[in-house]
This record gives sequence, structure tokens and C-alpha cells, in this order.
Amino acid sequence: MADFNNISLEVNNGILTIIIDRAEKMNALNLDTVEELRTAFQKVYDDKEIKGVIITGRGEKAFVAGADINEIAELNEVNGRKFSENGQEVFALIENCHKPVIAAVNGYALGGGCELAMACHLRVAVKTAKFGQPEVNLGIIPGYGGTQRLTQLVGKGRALELMMTGDMISAQKAKKVGLVNHVVDTHTELIEKCETILEKIISKAPLAVGMIVTCVNAFYTHDENGFQTEANSFSSCCKSEDFVEGTTAFLEKREPEFKGE
Ligand code: COA
Repeated sequence: MADFNNISLEVNNGILTIIIDRAEKMNALNLDTVEELRTAFQKVYDDKEIKGVIITGRGEKAFVAGADINEIAELNEVNGRKFSENGQEVFALIENCHKPVIAAVNGYALGGGCELAMACHLRVAVKTAKFGQPEVNLGIIPGYGGTQRLTQLVGKGRALELMMTGDMISAQKAKKVGLVNHVVDTHTELIEKCETILEKIISKAPLAVGMIVTCVNAFYTHDENGFQTEANSFSSCCKSEDFVEGTTAFLEKREPEFKGE
């Protein structure tokens, strides 16, 4: 496979494990990482030796703590739309993959991290993991499909509350509301559980497994307009003063003062 700087790949018994490898930045997704994920998934689609995929984060603290706020802070209305559509495109590659993809959520899954986990077919979390869509604290909204997939997974009321408050929830709560499939006690059990599920799915008819993905996703195709609405709204947020204040406050390690402008 191609050389990567932000992700690491390991293949074992037909299972590709993709590790988001920016532990010093809480595995935040910068644009290069998103492009590396795109390249890795193009390979997953083509490589017959790869039967299933696990996505996880390096270390025990974060799965992915969101898109990289240093890059987000530079966005404007025009490139904000591109930013959102590009991420949506890569995450759609994951969601539509005909091979099973499981998120092994080893810590914080916030913002783009929660969105990445939701783009996977299944989610298994360690009990210390935390989930949330805190974009509202930065003056923006989820832009990598989160407004659509969170609503699909947990329902409208819970999705609105999570996105409007920016609150984090525990792995146990995430399981209760349908955001994760399984919660395990330790990081070792996390990968073991994902491998056990993948081994079972891989033993089934691959064409049928792929068709199940296509058919289940087809249930939601009327939401395509929702994705476009999300990219439009994300782009509008990127021209607001509150967006500049929210991202600057995070980077300056202080509380933001929003004005609604
Ligand atoms: N983008 C860029 N850098 C990030 C980041 C992000 N999404 N999340 C964390 N980091 C960086 C921090 O700036 C810090 O960098 P520094 O050591 O150079 O100062 C480093 O990762 C460690 O994070 P820190 O905040 O010190 O760790 P913590 O344990 O106190 O808090 C979090 C962990 C995840 C709760 C906190 O980092 C956080 O809230 N991150 C942002 C989450 C977010 O808003 N995501 C949505 C983005 S759209």
C-alpha cells in the first residue's frame, strides 16, 4: 500500500486495521488524514485479500477528537463547502463499502470522530469512550454527514439534543440510544470483539453481505438532500463571526463569547 503519514495499516487474516495515528493531536482528522483514508478505502474496494476493516485510533485516549480545529479555523464560506463535501465523499466510501467496516472506538469520538464512527457499519466501544458532536461550541455544525447519520442512528429528538447542546455521552449511554452496538471493558477486548464479529461476517456469502449494505443504505437515499443541506449550512457557518470566535477561543484555550452574528 501507499506510504501514509497520518494513518497506519495492519493486515491480519484478511482483516485490515486502519489506525488513525496522530495521538499527540488526539487523532484529529486533518485534511491529509482524510485523503489518506480515501486512498486506503480505494484499496479496500480493489484488494481481494482484504475481507473486512477495523478503524481505530492510536493510544487509549482518543478514537478521533474531531476534524483538526487548526484547519477548520482557516475555513471560509467557499472552502467550507468544499471541506464538508470532501469529507462527506470519503465517509460515503466507508459507508457504501461492500466489505464490513467496524469502528473500534478506543476513546473520545467527537465531531468528525463521531461522524467517522457513524460512517462505519458497526461500532464497538471501550467503556471509557465518549461520544459527542461539539461543533456548536465552535460556531459550526457537523459537516461530515453527522447531521444525517446521527439522526438515522439515534432518532430526531436525541440527535437534536446532542448536536444543539454539544454534550458528550458515555459509551454506555451511546449503547442505550443505539449509537454503538457493543461496549467492552478493556482496550484488548475492544479489538478482539471487532475481530470476532468480522470473522463471523467474513464467513458469510460476500456478495450477500455487500448487497445488505447496498439495500440498507438505500433505505436512506431520500436523505441525499439532507447531506447537501448540511454542506450548505456548514459553509454559511464558516462566514460567521461566531465561527471565528469559537475556533479562536479553542486555540487560545479560553471560553468563546458568541454574538449570533
Ligand atoms: N483539532 C486540533 N487539535 C486538537 C483537537 C482537534 N479537534 N482536539 C484536541 N486537539 C489538540 C489540543 O489542542 C492539544 O494540543 P496541544 O498539546 O498542542 O495544546 C492536544 O490535542 C491535546 O488536547 P487537550 O485539549 O490538551 O486534551 P484534554 O485531555 O484536555 O481534552 C478533548 C481532550 C478531546 C476533550 C479536547 O481536546 C477537545 O475538546 N477537543 C476538541 C473537540 C472538538 O471540538 N471536536 C470537534 C471539532 S469539529
